[in-house]
Amino acid sequence: MKLTSEEQDMLDGKYGKAAKKSMEILTTLGEIFDAECMVEVYGVQIAGVSYANLGEAGLEFLNKMAEDGKVRVLTTLNPAGMDRENWQALGIDEEFAKNQNRAIDAFAKMGIITTCSCTPYLIGNAPHFGQHIAWAESSAVCYSNSVIGARTNREGGPSALASALTGKTPKYGYHLDENRHGQVLVEINAPVKGTDEFGVLGKIIGDKLVELGKKIPYITGIPSATVEELKSFCASIATYGGTALFHMEGITPEYNRYPKPADIIIEINQDDLNKTRNELIDDNLEIDFVSIGCPHASIHEIAEIARLLKGKKVKKEFWITTARPTKKIADEAGYSKIIEDAGAKFAADTCCVVAPIKGRFKGIMVDSAKACYYGRAKNKFKVKIGAIEDCVKEAIA
Ligand code: F3S
Repeated sequence: MKLTSEEQDMLDGKYGKAAKKSMEILTTLGEIFDAECMVEVYGVQIAGVSYANLGEAGLEFLNKMAEDGKVRVLTTLNPAGMDRENWQALGIDEEFAKNQNRAIDAFAKMGIITTCSCTPYLIGNAPHFGQHIAWAESSAVCYSNSVIGARTNREGGPSALASALTGKTPKYGYHLDENRHGQVLVEINAPVKGTDEFGVLGKIIGDKLVELGKKIPYITGIPSATVEELKSFCASIATYGGTALFHMEGITPEYNRYPKPADIIIEINQDDLNKTRNELIDDNLEIDFVSIGCPHASIHEIAEIARLLKGKKVKKEFWITTARPTKKIADEAGYSKIIEDAGAKFAADTCCVVAPIKGRFKGIMVDSAKACYYGRAKNKFKVKIGAIEDCVKEAIA
C-alpha cells in the first residue's frame, strides 16, 4: 500500500503505541483486500461494546489501546449490554454492570463519545453524501451506504477503533465506485408500509440474495419510505442477506448513478409478504415481553408510542430501546412521562438483543425482523412481529 508520510510515521511508532498498532491493523486489512492507499474518514462508529461480547480478552485489548490512544475523528459506540443509568430496573446483575462500565471507561479514556447507539445517524454522528466513514454496526452501515450515500465497509470492532485512532481506513470495497453497482433487480408488486412490513421485505430480499450469492439489490416499486421504515429495512436486509448497500428507485441517492441491473430479476408480491410475515410468528406463543426500538427508536417512534400508551397501563414487560440523546428529547417533550406512567421502561444505551437477558422471557413481540432473528438465535425466545400499534396493544392486553 502507498502510505503518506504521516501514515508511515504512525506505522513506525512516532505517534505512540496505539496509533502504531492501529496502523498495523489497517495496513494488514488493506493488503488483504488490495487497497492502494488509505482514505480519511469523517467519523467512526464502534461495535462490540457489550461486555458479553468483549469479555476480559476484549477489555484487555481496549485498556492497552487506551494507554496512549486518542481519537482523531468523531467516534460513537454501538449499544452496550445495559442502560447505563437504569440497569437495576431492567434486571441486569451488578457484576455485569461493573464490567460493562470498565469497558465504557476505556472507550471514554480514548476520547470516544460514549453514546451507545446503533442509529448514530439520528444523534449527530451523521456523514453526508459521498463522505468516507468507518462504521461497524451492520444496520447502520447499510443505512449510511444506501440511504445517505456515504461510504463504509462493515468494520469489525478492532478495525473501527483503529480508524478512530488514526482517522484513516484502507480504500477498498464500498469506498470504491466499482463496488457500488446494483447486481440484482428486485420488483415489488405490493404496497409496503410500516417498520414491521419493511422488515419483512428486508428478510425476503435478504434470503433471496443469499440463494443467489449476490449482495447489492436495486429495488423498484416502493413509492415512498420514512426514515423509520428504511432503518428497519436496513437492519433486516443486513441480518438476512449480509447486505451493506442497496439502491431504491426514486428514494436512495445513488439509484441512478450506476446502470440498472437487467439480468436477474426477483419479483415480490403480496403472497410473499404474507408468507414471510408468518415465518416471523412462532407457534404456541406466550408473549411476556414487548420491545420496540430495533434499530434504536427515533423521536417519531417514541412520540407514536406515547400517543398509543396515554392513560393506559402495560401488563407485560415493555422496553423502548433508544439512544440516550433521543431519550433526553423524549423527556423534554413529555413523552417519557406518559410512557413511564403507563409502566413501560426505557432501555437507553442498549437493546433487547445485546442485553444479557437470554432465557428470561418466553415470547417477545417486536416490530423488527432483525430482533426476531436474534430473539430466536441468541436469546432463545419465541417471537412475533407486528406493527408498533399491535406491539402496544399486546403490551396492554
Ligand atoms: Fe440495534 Fe440492537 Fe437492533 S444493536 S439494530 S437495536 S439488535
